[in-house]
Amino acid sequence: MTQPLRIALAGLGTVGVGLVKILQNQRDLITARAGREVVLVAVSARSRSKDRGVDLSGFAWEDDPVALARRDDIDLFVEVMGGEDGPAKAATEAALTAGHSVVTANKAMLARHGTALATLAEAQGAQLRFEAGVAGGIPVVKALTEGMAGNVMTRVIGVMNGTCNYILTEMEQTGGDYGDILTDAQRLGYAEADPTFDVGGFDAAQKLALLTATAFGTQVDYDAMEIEGIEKVTLTDIRYAMDMGYRIKLLGVASRTDTGVEQRMQPCLVPAESSLGQLESVTNMVVLDGDGSGRTAFLGPGAGEGPTAAAVMADVVDIARGAQVPAFGVPVAQLAAPVPAKVQTPAPYYLRLSLADQPGALARVAAALGQAHISIDRM
Ligand code: HSE
Repeated sequence: MTQPLRIALAGLGTVGVGLVKILQNQRDLITARAGREVVLVAVSARSRSKDRGVDLSGFAWEDDPVALARRDDIDLFVEVMGGEDGPAKAATEAALTAGHSVVTANKAMLARHGTALATLAEAQGAQLRFEAGVAGGIPVVKALTEGMAGNVMTRVIGVMNGTCNYILTEMEQTGGDYGDILTDAQRLGYAEADPTFDVGGFDAAQKLALLTATAFGTQVDYDAMEIEGIEKVTLTDIRYAMDMGYRIKLLGVASRTDTGVEQRMQPCLVPAESSLGQLESVTNMVVLDGDGSGRTAFLGPGAGEGPTAAAVMADVVDIARGAQVPAFGVPVAQLAAPVPAKVQTPAPYYLRLSLADQPGALARVAAALGQAHISIDRM
């Protein structure tokens, strides 16, 4: 009989608790799929006494996630604490150094340190997997590393932040206040600990940076991303967009161009009737263009306990099966150095100006735009 896969879990927030529930409630299914038992051995979180609605009495407790990561009675370390540096990075490095594979949902850490951590994992003969870090329940990392492995990828676009999509669609549908809707998103467990990461576009940009590396076989280059969030989008903008047949979405685009890789994350008008325009609530959508497969699209819940924990579990099952997949699809030594390209794709822009109601005001705006070689399409 194959030995069980022994897990340590760092982080008992929304995702960590979701993982405990899957392990407790779906034991037979997971064992059948993994080909062996998957056993949670030990856990760590900030507060031991907090009631999380799950029974943790059967697991060893560690106050220090680094000590948890180094335990010699585990095979796999699951990191769902979050945070770019600090305990999450220290514990991940400790686990990999001890030769333990790591499954993480931490896109912030990987957007900054993904190449270095993947290098450490390979040197130690360990796996580093992050399906839950990108687009919640959508298996888009696996789509790129496995299903699309026969393609030269040319473009990745998508809506990758559930909180922003929830805010934008709720504002449109209810006319509600931005702040109240953001509070709802936090209560429902969609938002990051610091929601500035969501509304500022950074969370989605981190996800796109990971997809860019995986799609194009380049080192992670988060710093090259052009990022703009949704904080300045108002109900007025949303309604004007609707009047013109569009919806506003926080859209990520990564393209392979002749001069390098373009990466941007910004609010965009998308046709209201398009698949992207129809996305509601926390739904994410990622569209992959490959030379062989053409265009494929993946749609699903991008945030929340169930989808994100299921994505963590999928990586755990892969590792239990013995799958060996490089973190970004190819061994780190074969990842190309990133060559960032300035965004060149010409695109129409939406511009909203408030003018004093005076004769000639509009004419002066039109003249200024004309002098800057900007043509007005409609007003
Ligand atoms: N805060 C993220 C979102 C959670 O809203 O999409 C998943 O990364």
